Amino acid sequence: MTATPATTPEALKLDDPATLAEADPTDFLSAVEGLPAQLGEAVGLADAAEDLPDVTGLGSIAVLGMGGSGISGELCRAVLAPLAPVPVATLRDYDIPAWVGKDTLVFAVSYSGNTEETLTAFRQAAARGARIVAVTTGGALAQEAAASGYPVVAVPGGLMPRAALGYVAIPPLVVCNRLGLAPGIDTAIDEALEVAARRAAACHRSVPAASNLAKTLAGRLVGRLPLVWGSEGTAGAAAYRLKCQLNENAKVIANWAVFPELNHNEVVGLYHSETIPAPLGILVLRHVGENPRTARRIEVTTSLIADSVDFVEEIWTTAASPLARLLDFVVAGDHLSTYLGIARGADPAPIVVIDLLKAALGS
Ligand code: F6R
Repeated sequence: MTATPATTPEALKLDDPATLAEADPTDFLSAVEGLPAQLGEAVGLADAAEDLPDVTGLGSIAVLGMGGSGISGELCRAVLAPLAPVPVATLRDYDIPAWVGKDTLVFAVSYSGNTEETLTAFRQAAARGARIVAVTTGGALAQEAAASGYPVVAVPGGLMPRAALGYVAIPPLVVCNRLGLAPGIDTAIDEALEVAARRAAACHRSVPAASNLAKTLAGRLVGRLPLVWGSEGTAGAAAYRLKCQLNENAKVIANWAVFPELNHNEVVGLYHSETIPAPLGILVLRHVGENPRTARRIEVTTSLIADSVDFVEEIWTTAASPLARLLDFVVAGDHLSTYLGIARGADPAPIVVIDLLKAALGS
């Protein structure tokens, strides 16, 4: 972890229980704090799933899901890439690509079980004879999957989907492990449980802003446009998760990009600072497993664009496995984005416009 940056008045407000209670009336923060416990429980649920598909002749793995459920696909893609013998893709649309077929293992992931894009893609995958496992709390997905004889990992309901990452993201990994597609993931899950719990303790509401990275970074981001950077792979997936959490929990627009690709486009816009619409706060997700050339690129890039931005702060993980690194970033970012909502006086829980969209579309 980086040294804790300067504490702002906005961050200090987060030490006041009355501020937390007022801005977060449903105590969304407690769901964020509960993520480490969810991870272990999700392992047990996925271990209990029966009648898993045969993987003889498997050619690909696809994870179907949107929003807070779709992030499970990004997590699987990043974590399984160095382990799985076949490519892994996240599909976030109604229509599935032509390569999905009988030789594809498909995880259909929807916390509610009623997200129309995921249901449409699931039905297309079923029609093509894909080998399907559903991960859901219920809804149409649970019903249709069970009726067709597909295994369903049934996870507990009652959370906002984005606060249920453990429940939606761990089961596909455990199922892949049980099918021999994720060698070594057991050890990584054990490490991830420890690392996530340690990070959650360090970011907890009871830890004062002066020594709480999530609170201090949230304080610094008030009034800034956040950009989140990571390197390709686990930190990139975590950067995307944090961007989405900043949108949904803090109710702000945010951007994300990955190294080395951002060196070939985003950096040009940043260098020409006269085009930047608001003071920028850049968060860089760093880990010890970065490609050394990528690490060098991060250092050179941040020094080249330093004058264009309000601040650049790094969040480091020292975890050994890609899964533990990713979840370390997720726990830090989930706290940070929730604290940013609270520091801005914006209730982190409701996602009014997503509900309006679903209602308007009758989905
Ligand atoms: C809400 C959230 C959303 C949902 C998305 C899909 O907390 O994060 O992004 O995850 O609208 O819904 P589900 O997850 O029920 O398939």
